[in-house]
Amino acid sequence: MRLLFKHEEIVERAKDIAKQLTNRFKGKTPIVLCVLKGACPFHSEMIKYMDMDIEVDYIHVSSYMGGTESTGIVKIKKDIEQDIQGRDVIIVEDIVDTGRTLSLLKPLLMERGPSSLTFVTMLDKPSKRVVDFVPDYVGKTIDDLFVIGFGLDLDEKCRNLKDIYVYNED
Ligand code: IMP
Repeated sequence: MRLLFKHEEIVERAKDIAKQLTNRFKGKTPIVLCVLKGACPFHSEMIKYMDMDIEVDYIHVSSYMGGTESTGIVKIKKDIEQDIQGRDVIIVEDIVDTGRTLSLLKPLLMERGPSSLTFVTMLDKPSKRVVDFVPDYVGKTIDDLFVIGFGLDLDEKCRNLKDIYVYNED
């Protein structure tokens, strides 16, 4: 295991993004949606620094591959409690890898008529993309590495690690 990012570096990025969101959504009350489970620590850090009225909510999804590499379905395991019609929704994810999860989730949320959707991810692995998806705000861009900690799991373990580590380097 190799240390990739210290807790403090990630918190600093959460703070920067929170400030940008505060400026962007001034005078509005966005719903800051945490994609369970991995995004919880980053979402919790980020919302502390959003200096405005916000509401928080949670969604739990899982994506499955279809017949080809670039298709799939997303299943909602736990849905948002609020009606998002006419609302600004900021979706917070732990990591964007192939891009499937968020590219499948986006049309499902769009059907509900939000005023806007904004995608934030703690980490981004653009070199792994199989579908076209570009998050609006990225904490850190990383290479093709499997990472754990700060919410990111290895078979449900390691989410509680304070820092982010590379798990399986050859
Ligand atoms: P995507 O649909 O391929 O973009 O994958 C998104 C999900 O895959 C993330 O929300 C994570 O749960 C998981 N994932 C992708 N890469 C990693 C990693 O390096 N560590 C832990 N989980 C990962």
